[in-house]
Order: sequence, then C-alpha cells, then structure tokens
Amino acid sequence: MAFALLSLVLVLAAFALMLGYTIRTGISPVPTTPRVADEIFAACPPESLIPPEAGNVVYELGSGWGNLAMALAKRFPERAVVGYELSPLPWLVSRLLLRLRPRPNLALHRADFMAADLSDAALVVCYLYPGAMRRLREKLERELPAGALVVSNAFLVPGWQPNSVRHAADQYETAVYLYRMPPEPESELTVAP
Ligand SMILES: C[S@@+](CC[C@H](N)C(=O)[O-])C[C@H]1O[C@@H](n2cnc3c(N)ncnc32)[C@H](O)[C@@H]1O
Repeated sequence: MAFALLSLVLVLAAFALMLGYTIRTGISPVPTTPRVADEIFAACPPESLIPPEAGNVVYELGSGWGNLAMALAKRFPERAVVGYELSPLPWLVSRLLLRLRPRPNLALHRADFMAADLSDAALVVCYLYPGAMRRLREKLERELPAGALVVSNAFLVPGWQPNSVRHAADQYETAVYLYRMPPEPESELTVAP
C-alpha cells in the first residue's frame, strides 16, 4: 500500500514537473519521429559540403529525451554535438541514456539555449513552435557564422526563405526546412494578374 502510494506521488510529481516546464518553454518534449528524423538527416549536406567558414559544432536546441542528439552525434562523429534542454525530466533521461550508450562527442546541458553562445555553429537543429522561432531568428542572425546551416522540424523561421524544403513520409507530410546563413529574405508570392 505504501509502495503504491509512493509510486502515485512520484508519477504525479513527474507529471507536474513536465507540465510546469511545458508551460514555461511553450512546448512539450514530444520527440521527432523516425520518419521526420530521416528527412532531417537527408536535409543535412554531407560533412564535406559544410563550408569551412562555418563553425565546428552541431547544436540541438531543445534536445528533449536525447534521441535526435544521439543520432546527430553518430552522423557527425568528427564534430562536437551539443544539446540544450530546460525540462529536467527529459534531460535526466537523456543523460541516463547517454551513460548507457556513451558518445564521446555529445554533451547534453540542462540550460536555456537562448542564453547559449552559438557563434561556433556548423549546424543548428530544432523542433520548436512559431513563437520560439520568432525569438530565435534574431539570435541566429546575430550569432551564426556565414555558411552555418539551420534545420527546423515543422516550423519556418519567420522572414527567411528556406534553401530547401523536404516532406516526411508521415500522415502530416511534416516539412523540414533547411537554411544557410546568411539567410535570404522571404520572397513575396507574386499573384498572376
Ligand atoms: C518538441 S521538443 C523536441 C525534442 C527534440 N529536439 C526532438 O526533436 O526529438 C522541444 C523541446 O525544446 C525544449 N525547449 C523549449 N525551449 C527551450 C529553451 N529555451 N531552452 C532549452 N530547451 C527548450 C522543450 O523543453 C522541449 O523538450
């Protein structure tokens, strides 16, 4: 009985913690699906085509449970991969998974990515929401070196023209947007007379 009660309290506390951070960050830690991850990796150019003037580091902004960060670390073994996640529970799970499957080039920080210095980025990957993309835009324009790449799952960077758009083979045909710094301004749609 005491064990059941303790378990219930722990589950409720975990739920409250997740909910609190979902409200704080504006998004729950829902992971990228494998099909969308395929498109993210297909959107990333091969290592040899990432221009040398870009930085060296691959960032995942809001690394959630760590699945995508681990796949990025595997895909880019020569680069440091850094994930930032604010929500404690997903971050803790991602750290435990990393303990179980160590990746020497991967660091997972419990921190606000808006306070991180991204000026050494080669690639920034994110899966956020429109409000966060709006806030992020200015930071990316200020900090990212020329040639750095930005890949966004599902959400456009407002005001930027994507260099390419891919669609996942899922029921929503989820879009994956690729940008190269400095970004082109969004082109106006011209309506034929
Ligand atoms: C939709 S989830 C994506 C998780 C992971 N990137 C993936 O694709 O599987 C977005 C994550 O971003 C985190 N997040 C949102 N704003 C953040 C911030 N300012 N700093 C750190 N993490 C943030 C949320 O806590 C959430 O876990």
